[in-house]
Amino acid sequence: AWRTENYYRYIIDELGREVTRNGVAVVGVSGGIDSTVTALIGKKLFGDKLISVFVDHGLLREGERELVVSSLEKLGLNPLIVDAGERFISKLEGSTDCEERRRVIGEEFARIFSEIIEKEGAEYFLQGTTYPDIIESGGTRKAASVIKSHHNVGGLPEWFRGRVKILEPLRFLYKDEVREIARLLGVPREIIERHPFPGPGLAVRITGIFTKKKLDVCRRASKIVEDVLGEYGLYSRVWQAFAVVGDDRWVGVKGDARSHGYIVTVRIVESVDGMTADYSKIPYDVLDEISRRITNSIQDVTMVTYAITSKPPSTIEPC
Ligand code: XMP
Repeated sequence: AWRTENYYRYIIDELGREVTRNGVAVVGVSGGIDSTVTALIGKKLFGDKLISVFVDHGLLREGERELVVSSLEKLGLNPLIVDAGERFISKLEGSTDCEERRRVIGEEFARIFSEIIEKEGAEYFLQGTTYPDIIESGGTRKAASVIKSHHNVGGLPEWFRGRVKILEPLRFLYKDEVREIARLLGVPREIIERHPFPGPGLAVRITGIFTKKKLDVCRRASKIVEDVLGEYGLYSRVWQAFAVVGDDRWVGVKGDARSHGYIVTVRIVESVDGMTADYSKIPYDVLDEISRRITNSIQDVTMVTYAITSKPPSTIEPC
């Protein structure tokens, strides 16, 4: 724990020397551990000159917004809430390429934040970028290839970078180190134990064409995956667990009728840092419960599959 405490002090000292103390700073908070710790560091540095902003891009998990806002309020980070679902979704509908969606979402985030930065006359923008984000976006010491453009690194457009000073206090830390700092700072368990969730949200869990319908199926099925794992006491033992919806169909029989329904792919992985991951050897009865609940409660789903490939060669998210 002393190591964690030292890291934390080091970050505060380093940044403390760099920034103007009574400058205004903006931080985007998602309720994830990275942005929460970043916001708490921001609060330490800027006090009430820190503006926390929660953007609801309409691509969140079920119930996420309410949960996140209430946990952040408990930490004294009362976020400004930007209700931007329509703004994002209308730009994504019909798009078929995940990377393009990441770009569109990154651009829209940047636009929202720059409006706030301008309005508040902010000098700084804090981001919860961690070391794996940097590596996976190609910015590594060893210059690995670009795997995916994680929007919180590659996706911030040039025009935005030029407008404000960007602070990334966690850029040399791995997730488990961020978790340790979070514990040190008294971040509640519901935030520390939540699974990592990509900035572009459910948009990268829909393969093929992006539609509101698939988004709805993805959201409801993901909720079931998380709920069932929770009921079996497995939620905190896995790194991520979610549902993916694509364009392939499977013929189903519901009552007398044959119908072409969606195929939902369940992905549950175990990992330490997200860089490599094993698919989780979930007991069959848990998978069975997940499958039944999905097909029983979501009308248009006729098949549930389980993803049994580790990373590498797969990635965790489908696209
Ligand atoms: P992959 O799919 O590359 O994911 O194996 C590794 C970790 O990164 C997360 N991820 C993202 N996070 N923006 C993010 O903020 C993104 O575009 C993005 N894509 C993947 C993924 O959830 C996993 O934890």
